[in-house]
Amino acid sequence: MHAPETSFPPSPAKPSDVVVSLVDLRLSYPSPEGEIAVLRGVDLAVRAGEIVAVTGPSGSGKSSLIAVVGGLETPTGGSVRVLGTALESADERTRTALRRRDIGIVFQAYHLVPAMTALENVALPLVLAGEEGGEAAAQAMLREVGLGHRMSHRPSSLSGGEQQRVAVARAFVAGPRLVLADEPTGNLDRRTGEHVAQVMFSLTRASGAALVLVTHDEALARACDRIVAIDEGRIVEERVVRDPVAAGARG
Ligand SMILES: Nc1ncnc2c1ncn2[C@@H]1O[C@H](COP(=O)(O)OP(=O)(O)OP(=O)(O)O)[C@@H](O)[C@H]1O
Ligand SMILES: [Mg+2]
Repeated sequence: MHAPETSFPPSPAKPSDVVVSLVDLRLSYPSPEGEIAVLRGVDLAVRAGEIVAVTGPSGSGKSSLIAVVGGLETPTGGSVRVLGTALESADERTRTALRRRDIGIVFQAYHLVPAMTALENVALPLVLAGEEGGEAAAQAMLREVGLGHRMSHRPSSLSGGEQQRVAVARAFVAGPRLVLADEPTGNLDRRTGEHVAQVMFSLTRASGAALVLVTHDEALARACDRIVAIDEGRIVEERVVRDPVAAGARG
């Protein structure tokens, strides 16, 4: 696997900064058979610079957790603070602004805009944020993920691994302080998945962002700093693999 070059400066966030704080987080959906409790009291804190794996069986609530932390779903109870903003009480405008400014999201199925080139897809968050110089930043980010030679390709003429690297570049281009990834390697073969994960880890380490990554892949989970196992909407196990702050201090 080749390491992407990390040319942009680390963010000023201190490693001890709490980026995500969940307290007794609950999420239910109404259904004809009554309420379905999907998240049933989740407590979790994620610090800047940390890479946290979320694992658990199908239907345990992992994607729902990502949706709530990303401000895409409103919890039915408890609190979800992202970079100091209480999302449970924030209005749609505040949530959208936080998402655009500070959060990057990568999905299993890439979710690229089919009619746009790789470059346009990556530049999109900057265009939406009304930032100048989006194209140059998007080009730099595509080179970062090893796709400098595929900038004008549309998603349909990119491989799965390439499409996911475009999605990773898009998630990181605006300098997010939190990146959420829901089974980002789930559609990829092992080798390609490892490459995509390695690109994500490298961008996360270089930027000082926090990364929360849902995965079914044991080896990928063990490569993270901490593993949080979910079952039936609750955290059932937490395991620290390494302390990123201490690891950083050792170099
Ligand atoms: N919009 C919805 N309305 C009703 N129930 C939902 C909705 N979205 C999810 N659920 C239910 O919530 C539960 C958790 O779903 P979720 O997608 O979070 O699971 P998951 O852990 O991501 O599973 P997988 O590993 O299969 O992706 C499931 O039982 C699902 O059926
Ligand atoms: Mg899921």
